[in-house]
Amino acid sequence: MTDLLGIPGSKADEAAPAAAPWKLLETRPVVPGLGRTICVANQKGGVAKTTTSVNLGAALALRGHRVLLVDVDPQSNATTGVGIDHRGVEISTYDLLIGAAPLDQVIRPTLVAGLDCAPASLDLAGAEIELAGALARERKLAEALVDAGRGYDLIFLDCPPSLGLLTINALAAAQDLIVPVQCEYYALEGLGQLMDTAERVRRSLNAQLRIAGLLLTMYDGRTKLSSQVANEVRNHFGRAVFDTVVPRSVRLSEAPSFGEPVVTLDPASRGAMSYRLLAAEVEQRYGLEVHVPPPPPRADARGASEADGAPPSRPRGAGGPGGRGYGTVAPEPDGLDESWPRPQPWSVVR
Ligand SMILES: Nc1ncnc2c1ncn2[C@@H]1O[C@H](COP(=O)(O)OP(=O)(O)O)[C@@H](O)[C@H]1O
Ligand SMILES: [Mg+2]
Repeated sequence: MTDLLGIPGSKADEAAPAAAPWKLLETRPVVPGLGRTICVANQKGGVAKTTTSVNLGAALALRGHRVLLVDVDPQSNATTGVGIDHRGVEISTYDLLIGAAPLDQVIRPTLVAGLDCAPASLDLAGAEIELAGALARERKLAEALVDAGRGYDLIFLDCPPSLGLLTINALAAAQDLIVPVQCEYYALEGLGQLMDTAERVRRSLNAQLRIAGLLLTMYDGRTKLSSQVANEVRNHFGRAVFDTVVPRSVRLSEAPSFGEPVVTLDPASRGAMSYRLLAAEVEQRYGLEVHVPPPPPRADARGASEADGAPPSRPRGAGGPGGRGYGTVAPEPDGLDESWPRPQPWSVVR
């Protein structure tokens, strides 16, 4: 599938050199008590930015870290994903951006202990226009989050699917960037542009910005395409790509309808397992204090459950306490993700 690189806008030389000036996250351990802000961005929609922000955030909270999830997308999917009805949100990240409210008035607890959320609302869609003429409009979020590190170990910024002012604000406010990459055709398209944008932000607005990692998502072990795309991304970005691969998982796509992260809704599902493994990998790369042992990776994650420290599974069909609860949890079909966690020789030598 080398012709992936022949697609206009997805040339290898567009994507490859961008990784070079970036230092990897593992060289910059988190200083306890100071927090670390991580921007989850990709201008493509539907690549699992929100799923990653919600589930990685929740998995790290379950592992004993204090996590804040900041919803920077007017679609408010991260807000809904942790059980907050965005229609009822009166003070949101919109107020944060326009300077109408401080962070502590925006933050709400979620049903996951240790995970708080700064919810978004539809007003946020107007923020780009309202801020258009404002002084230092790219640094509004950075200014609003300046003291957030005192209360949290990790702060995740869930970005909208564009490279507009909201994403620029998130890049300007973050120390690290996580890029979810969907294992589909055209996966590399746009990555060069994203890296260029991040590099420009690093040069002009935020010298601290680093790449934390690219995350391969929606990997489908039944298709050759998934492994080809994954190899392609690994070839270009090398060690910047997380070892953990998130499989395509029915349960991950169902969880938002329950208003609950899959890591608490169904911790034994393969999607949940992969985000728990990612949390352990992030912990390792960040030099975070480890409170609990990582879940053991296994070829068949279906059997993994309470035995490896996961919270007990919810009964099928039960809505989360804060969720809307109209979803139904169907068993994941056999054959899906059968090559998860990942085939050799993908392992990255550290
Ligand atoms: N690994 C996965 N397997 C199956 N569905 C997924 C997976 N990750 C995300 N999804 C689903 O794909 C859709 C897009 O994901 P989302 O996280 O909202 O992307 P983004 O925030 O980048 O637009 C959502 O419906 C989500 O539930
Ligand atoms: Mg999203």
